[in-house]
Amino acid sequence: MSQNQLSTRHLLGIKHLTVEDIRLIFDTALEFKEVINRPIKKVPSLRDITVANLFFENSTRTRISFELAEKRLSADVVNFSASSSSVKKGETLLDTVNNILSMKVDMVVMRHPAPGAPIYLSKRIPANIINAGDGTHEHPTQALLDAFSMQLALNDELKGKNIAIFGDILHSRVAMSNIFCLKKLGANVRLCGPPTLIPKHIHKLGVDVSYDIRKTLEWCDIANVLRIQLERQDIKYFPSLREYHNHFGISKKLLDSLDNPVIVMHPGPINRGVELTSDVADSDQSIILQQVENGVAIRMAILYLLSTLRA
Ligand code: NCD
Repeated sequence: MSQNQLSTRHLLGIKHLTVEDIRLIFDTALEFKEVINRPIKKVPSLRDITVANLFFENSTRTRISFELAEKRLSADVVNFSASSSSVKKGETLLDTVNNILSMKVDMVVMRHPAPGAPIYLSKRIPANIINAGDGTHEHPTQALLDAFSMQLALNDELKGKNIAIFGDILHSRVAMSNIFCLKKLGANVRLCGPPTLIPKHIHKLGVDVSYDIRKTLEWCDIANVLRIQLERQDIKYFPSLREYHNHFGISKKLLDSLDNPVIVMHPGPINRGVELTSDVADSDQSIILQQVENGVAIRMAILYLLSTLRA
């Protein structure tokens, strides 16, 4: 019999999930993807459940995606953003969250600049916690929607597939969660970017490293291209964005010169003209907008599965 419950009450990182958890999330997301393409997109699965979206760091896609997922499951939703809250007046994270919880919140979706913040909270409060990105650590829902989108685009499992991740691996929580998820699913993972933006001991996670963009594109079935995280870089890791683009940017001309039809992905926000040119982002090799659509289905699946495991 296949598993019908997650092995954990919280989604803190991909590191803590089993392969069976990932497959259960994908199977459930497939059903919700069907629901959100119906004329009536709403189901009552989370009726009487209150979800707080606590965003201590900027976000567009992830925040809207979670809010839509919650509303399509009929949850009651409260939104909090640190820039307009008492955090600015010196309140601690635990005090802020405990105050919100005393208003009877069942689930917390949290984005925070400090790595480990969602793990810290999960040990102190009774609500289910979903990590929506913690500093440079993990961004599990992004990795799940990425791997789910890859499977749908290839119409196949990821076992034995060649997936390349390009860009600022050093500062990217999306890269970390992607690596954990893709390795658990049996894919071959290669990282490509300037040596200064690839962590020294990363091969210990079972991935290859290449500094040659053309060879990496020739090798891969899918290129997941990441943004240069300038806001997290306190020193200069490469001379200029123009130089970065010349060596590591992906253009349509480069893709057209390959024999293999690489599928291109990006978690957003895109810096057009830096890691990708517009003609790649908008081409039919790109599945960037499918990722966004699948993100709602994946988040509905996670919210639903965790809601069945309340304390
Ligand atoms: C990513 C993030 O915030 O980590 N974006 C996202 O969630 N869609 C990637 C990024 O900021 O580059």
